[in-house]
Amino acid sequence: MIATPTFLTLHGARCTVILEAAPGEAPLWRYFGPRLPDGASPGPGLRDTRPTPSFSLDFDQPLSIFPTFGVGWFGQSALLAHRGGRDFAQAFTHCAVDWLKPGRALSLTLTDAIAAIRVVVELSLDPASDVLTLSSALTNTGEGALDVQWLAAGVAPLPASCTTVRSYVGRHNHEFILEADALGRHAWRRENRRGLTSHDAFPGAVVAMPSTTEDGGLAYGAQLAWSGNHAQTIEWLDDGRFQWQMGEWLAPGEVRLGPGKTLNSPQMLLTCSERGLGGVAANFHGAIRSRMTWPGGAMRPRPVGINTWEGFYFDHRLDDLKALADSAAELGVERFVLDDGWFHRRADDTRGLGDWWPDVDKYPDGLAPLAAHVTGLGLEFGLWVEPEMVNPDSDLYRAHPDWALHIEGRPRLTARNQLVLDLAREGVADYLSDKIGALLRDLPIGYLKWDHNRDLTTAAGADGQAAYRRQTLAAYALFARLRAAFPDVEIEACAGGGGRIDAGLLRHTHRVWTSDCIDAVSRVAIQRGFLQFFPPEIMGAHVGAAPAHSTSRAQSMAFRAAVALPGHFGVELDARKIEGADRATLKAWIALYKSLRDRLHGACVWLGEAGDGVVWQAHGEADDLVLFVYRLEMTGRRFAPAIALAVLDPAAVYAVRRIDPHGADAGAAMSGAWLAASGLPVPPLKPEQCAIFRLVRQ
Ligand code: GLA
Repeated sequence: MIATPTFLTLHGARCTVILEAAPGEAPLWRYFGPRLPDGASPGPGLRDTRPTPSFSLDFDQPLSIFPTFGVGWFGQSALLAHRGGRDFAQAFTHCAVDWLKPGRALSLTLTDAIAAIRVVVELSLDPASDVLTLSSALTNTGEGALDVQWLAAGVAPLPASCTTVRSYVGRHNHEFILEADALGRHAWRRENRRGLTSHDAFPGAVVAMPSTTEDGGLAYGAQLAWSGNHAQTIEWLDDGRFQWQMGEWLAPGEVRLGPGKTLNSPQMLLTCSERGLGGVAANFHGAIRSRMTWPGGAMRPRPVGINTWEGFYFDHRLDDLKALADSAAELGVERFVLDDGWFHRRADDTRGLGDWWPDVDKYPDGLAPLAAHVTGLGLEFGLWVEPEMVNPDSDLYRAHPDWALHIEGRPRLTARNQLVLDLAREGVADYLSDKIGALLRDLPIGYLKWDHNRDLTTAAGADGQAAYRRQTLAAYALFARLRAAFPDVEIEACAGGGGRIDAGLLRHTHRVWTSDCIDAVSRVAIQRGFLQFFPPEIMGAHVGAAPAHSTSRAQSMAFRAAVALPGHFGVELDARKIEGADRATLKAWIALYKSLRDRLHGACVWLGEAGDGVVWQAHGEADDLVLFVYRLEMTGRRFAPAIALAVLDPAAVYAVRRIDPHGADAGAAMSGAWLAASGLPVPPLKPEQCAIFRLVRQ
């Protein structure tokens, strides 16, 4: 009998990881997929099951948890590094296995005595979410500096049956746009070198098979918890599987590890689900929820906000803003956010960033009178800041021109008339912490909207070396510092809308501004992309003006509200000007949001396409589902397609009611099996209309 190797097995509720351990090498990837029974094992070692093909190394090198270049592995390496041109090839000579939590979390210490490096790979499988968190830490145990070009945060196997990668691309005002690419005998790769997560390439994807649907079949998903440069590759392997790597994209020379120094990768969150794309989303939502830290220890119901930006832009007048707060309070708004335009000389976007004190012309007595007025109405007061930025036309820049990221001798390239502060430079974080801290100390601020309105260029630090990584880490440190000093303050992450949305920043923040585009039709696609990775309660979603400022298209108040409703609902328009029927409608939708938010948030989200211009979104599980049916285009049929809801319990009977701000209809009793197989009939809807249903198990 062939000896059975040692297998390292981690079980989630619905997925399993199996590695094959051997003392003198990195463990081999044997399985990541749907839950196997306890004790299930691959049997013989992998090499014993696959004879050496012709023109191959006599010692087969399959995919390991950390494959390395130059000593028998021909696929993408998890590490690209050298020491003065030498030690370019690595292979581990020893592996120590430590169970951090038996059957759940594992630390693998991989040592290469020849190239003088150590890599610690950590794997942790959360049984509540079925998300596997992977990370790696590289230590230079040799004498000279180790130049690192690539360190994978994680390496994951994908089965040969995978055919499609669904990634998300976009630009400012149009984020999270689905792009489906065929996997094949090539490498699929996405890179981002913009210095922040970017609107352009989300650091994550979902991998599907022909049998994968919105709510059924096997699908895999991964995302990187990192707010800087990133890269991911899915590469075909000799055995038909694929390997998926994700990590930080490093600029040339960015990481030179001195002797004894360690480089820590970000975390890669990996999951799979047999409940299709929605199952992957549900797993990610669970993982993100458990990573977030809330003032008071738990999320409170997400308050309805009003943001001043699109209603007022830079035109701040105290009386108008007070009247806006009055009007918002009357509508039922619970949080008032004073956006850009409030600080020293900030008349437009050409100046002021960096000078974080109130403008004396607009606010002769500071922000306290406005904040007192807002809180006096029972609303929370929130404030917009953009700490990492500086306008050349600012007191701060005039005093400290060297504080902006720059390369000596090269022009300082502005974007939106601004430069980026080098947060890692001495004095910069202290200055920002003092200035933002003073605002938080002196005013009753419950909420900060923290913006970042440009990509990074000429991003060298004081030493002239690439500073992208340092900048990202210093930003996290600044968030953490302010959170520690003001633990009751919630923070919204924004970067021209969705330019910095990732699981790394969500360690420090509580909501994101999903997109600067509030046009409700555009928002449907943006929000659906977002919801593949992140839960609805942190998705900033506003009712904007009609016509929408970003597209000049106009939609009804009810449709605008219906699209914003499933997220963290808010209003972004001059509420004083909303009168008559529109005002009554908005007020009614705000009340509806308040009555539904506990059901919509914290729940699973299922997304589907019914065809004929209808998409749907359901929040909940088999016991209680809130279903939004959006018609986006004119129908081409006399009768609309029905919506099959596979998530329902076929053995149950459901009370199905259509709800709107004026209440629910009498409803009908329908069988779960019928609703899952044949579907819910959809009422006639015009383009840009929504119908909402509640399905409750009887
Ligand atoms: C960015 C944000 C907007 C607004 C402006 C203010 O574009 O995404 O919501 O805060 O900045 O300048």
